[in-house]
Amino acid sequence: MEPTGADGAERPGAGKRMCIVGASGKLGRYMVQHALDRGYEVVGVCREQSVHKLAAFEGRITVVPGATDSDAVVARAVHGCDAVLTVLVPWGVHHYASGTAQAVLDHARPGARLVFSCGWHITRDGEDVYSRRFTAYAAVLGRLAKLARVVDVDDQVEACRRVFASATRWTVVRGSDLEEGDGQGLPVWSRHVGDPVLESSLTRRVDYARFMVEAVEDDALVREAPAIVGRLTPSALAYARTDADGPA
Ligand SMILES: NC(=O)c1ccc[n+]([C@@H]2O[C@H](COP(=O)([O-])OP(=O)(O)OC[C@H]3O[C@@H](n4cnc5c(N)ncnc54)[C@H](OP(=O)(O)O)[C@@H]3O)[C@@H](O)[C@H]2O)c1
Repeated sequence: MEPTGADGAERPGAGKRMCIVGASGKLGRYMVQHALDRGYEVVGVCREQSVHKLAAFEGRITVVPGATDSDAVVARAVHGCDAVLTVLVPWGVHHYASGTAQAVLDHARPGARLVFSCGWHITRDGEDVYSRRFTAYAAVLGRLAKLARVVDVDDQVEACRRVFASATRWTVVRGSDLEEGDGQGLPVWSRHVGDPVLESSLTRRVDYARFMVEAVEDDALVREAPAIVGRLTPSALAYARTDADGPA
């Protein structure tokens, strides 16, 4: 991995190792690309049947196949990593999300930067203000999915509760609705859903991934749960601060 980019500047990930848990998903693959672009050595964890989805990165990353909630798999993958990015997904009814979060919390090196993905429905301090539409949609969808034993949103809530309670250097990035498309730049963020800057509720997936990767290098995001929105959305353009980084 070249320590400098095309412009000769040192890349932020040079000499550092990043593990991406859930690397084969849509968000995961974007994160792998951003991490490589920033000079990180990348270790990706994904289910055995999904290894083929990482073929485009063959020879450039190390893949550890296996269930992302497996202690042994995660322990092996995060060994020696400076940062661990985790896609938290509430699949099934066997505590997949909380198992994944716990394995990362247990096995990541002390002091490592840990960044987790989830949706706006996760609240850290109960101060988020949700629209009636959002609340109704989340409740109905959550209940139906649990009944069908496909998804258990409560387990993603439990996963995040464990992360918030941990003494690690965590960031939980709460995504809005997502869309595909070219990158528009680093999303803007707020501590609370309900902030007008987030009103558009839409982020390009590639930009969500960028926020996850760049959060590793931003100490202002340690122990924060930023809710993000695309920086070119109408609400971001209308309400975002124009000065430095930080909550909009
Ligand atoms: N989709 C949205 O609109 C949205 C909105 C806000 C926030 N988010 C957050 O963004 C993150 C990524 O979500 P995404 O929708 O974009 O999905 P994604 O990136 O495609 O990721 C889905 C992940 O779930 C895994 N997965 C799929 N089926 C599974 C199963 N049956 N058992 C175990 N793992 C399974 C996939 O692994 P394989 O590659 O092995 O299938 C992949 O790692 C999540 O943290 C989500 O909460 C999503």
